[in-house]
Amino acid sequence: MNLHVIDHPLIRHKLALLRDEKRSMPEFKKLLHEIGLLMAYEVTRELRTEPTVVKTPVAVAPSEKLIKHPVLVTILRAGIGMLNPFMEILPNSRVGFLGMNRDEETLQPHSYYNKIPMQALNNKVFLIDPMLATGGSALSALDFLAEKGVHDVTFICLVAAPEGVAAVHEHYPDVAIYTAALDEKLNEKGYIVPGLGDAGDRIFGTGDHENL
Ligand code: PRP
Ligand code: URA
Repeated sequence: MNLHVIDHPLIRHKLALLRDEKRSMPEFKKLLHEIGLLMAYEVTRELRTEPTVVKTPVAVAPSEKLIKHPVLVTILRAGIGMLNPFMEILPNSRVGFLGMNRDEETLQPHSYYNKIPMQALNNKVFLIDPMLATGGSALSALDFLAEKGVHDVTFICLVAAPEGVAAVHEHYPDVAIYTAALDEKLNEKGYIVPGLGDAGDRIFGTGDHENL
């Protein structure tokens, strides 16, 4: 399967801290940012470079530079929490946004906004959303990108449910999924078990744990 569970001791450690229901909103955001940086390091491993030279104060150094900068696309709003570390490590990357939220009853995504840079057509796209639950939001985003002619997409999340991975790969087997954790299942309300709750609510301080 085209699924990569990033295995790194710091990610495992920080993810355990972040999942804790006692974690405060500022702590949650900071941990998400730190894990995002570590994930960005791993996910960018396959980017291609070309030779260049740089003049140091001492001599000319044979060096390497990225051939292309991937385009970052995030799913609002929880995606913002993981977008920032990727923007930090890839400052030349252009950024697109897809606004969608799940209907709490039907679990179907509702799209309310989109703006994607045209460079997504001929660059690798990193599609970023911390949670892959039923896969509805990811599939809607991938459908939107495919309709626009964007084909080289890597999906990056923090926590994935097996149901979401299967749904994405049933329709888009070529889309590589990178996650920090593959959890057990979904509960009857479509939340990932054990998961971390509602990512958007925990980043932005909205919502109520009683609803999960
Ligand atoms: C969350 C999350 C994903 C989606 C995953 O967003 O950020 O986009 O749920 O669930 P799915 O795989 O079942 O579609 P949510 O719809 O809660 O919106 P928010 O980011 O605005 O909180
Ligand atoms: N969205 C979230 O934020 N958390 C889940 O567990 C499922 C969807």
